[in-house]
Amino acid sequence: MPHPFDPGYVAEPFLTLCAEYPEANVYPPEQFRLEWGPMFHRGRLDGSAHVLVIGQDPAQHETVVRRILVGEAGRRVQGLLAKLGITRSYVFINTYMYSVYGSVKAKTRKGPTLIDYRNRWLNALLVGRQVEAVLALGQAADEAWQFWKATPAAQSVNVAYVAVTHPTQPESSSKGDKTKLVAATKKLLQNWNAALQALSPSVQHVDVPTLLVLYGESWVDGDRVAIPESDFPAGLPAWMHEQDGWAKRTGADDLAKRRNNTRTVPKGILA
Ligand code: URA
Repeated sequence: MPHPFDPGYVAEPFLTLCAEYPEANVYPPEQFRLEWGPMFHRGRLDGSAHVLVIGQDPAQHETVVRRILVGEAGRRVQGLLAKLGITRSYVFINTYMYSVYGSVKAKTRKGPTLIDYRNRWLNALLVGRQVEAVLALGQAADEAWQFWKATPAAQSVNVAYVAVTHPTQPESSSKGDKTKLVAATKKLLQNWNAALQALSPSVQHVDVPTLLVLYGESWVDGDRVAIPESDFPAGLPAWMHEQDGWAKRTGADDLAKRRNNTRTVPKGILA
């Protein structure tokens, strides 16, 4: 059976963008895991995207796969896009090219070189393209959008825009407390329902005509959608895109955890 794959950075301006990525003078190593390199995007770079999603920062699965939002957060957003009828015509970038370590200082976040480089990506994906809607995941992504919106290049671009709660905010905010997780998930889904209603009239070019069905109060079957094989680089084994948990930062202390990213083939793949 043939395996479709994402060809990667084969055309300008992405070839140059990937060659000229910002390094430690822009992304301080105390705030970002530079040791694992930058991670750029997921989805269509060929101009066929109708929805652009701005995420936050890549994590341990992205580090291996070299595409962003490839884990649980990605599957949740994939589900949201499917509710809009978008199954292929999308592109994702993150606010930060590198994985955040701890928290990001305001001075770094607002650094002109960091912002300019991200704006070059946004220009490449939005100016003269056919994106109809932009979705920002969380506050940092919203800020990234506002910085870009204030640029001269952005003035020619007219797209619908919504900032939503980050897809894994319920887990990060509830810190293992199940009651809090249920409440935060309900709140997130309400927030996403409002976003769907705001964006759906603007998403005119869909992949699959779909009647808008809103979320309930908790995740149900079908809300999380698998990331298509065609989003991954060539030859990636299926188990790396079907579930999470195969990549873990392992070690006895923080430094060891920065140095190690252990990949484990899940049970059931081998005898
Ligand atoms: N992975 C990403 O690449 N971005 C997010 O925002 C979350 C997970």
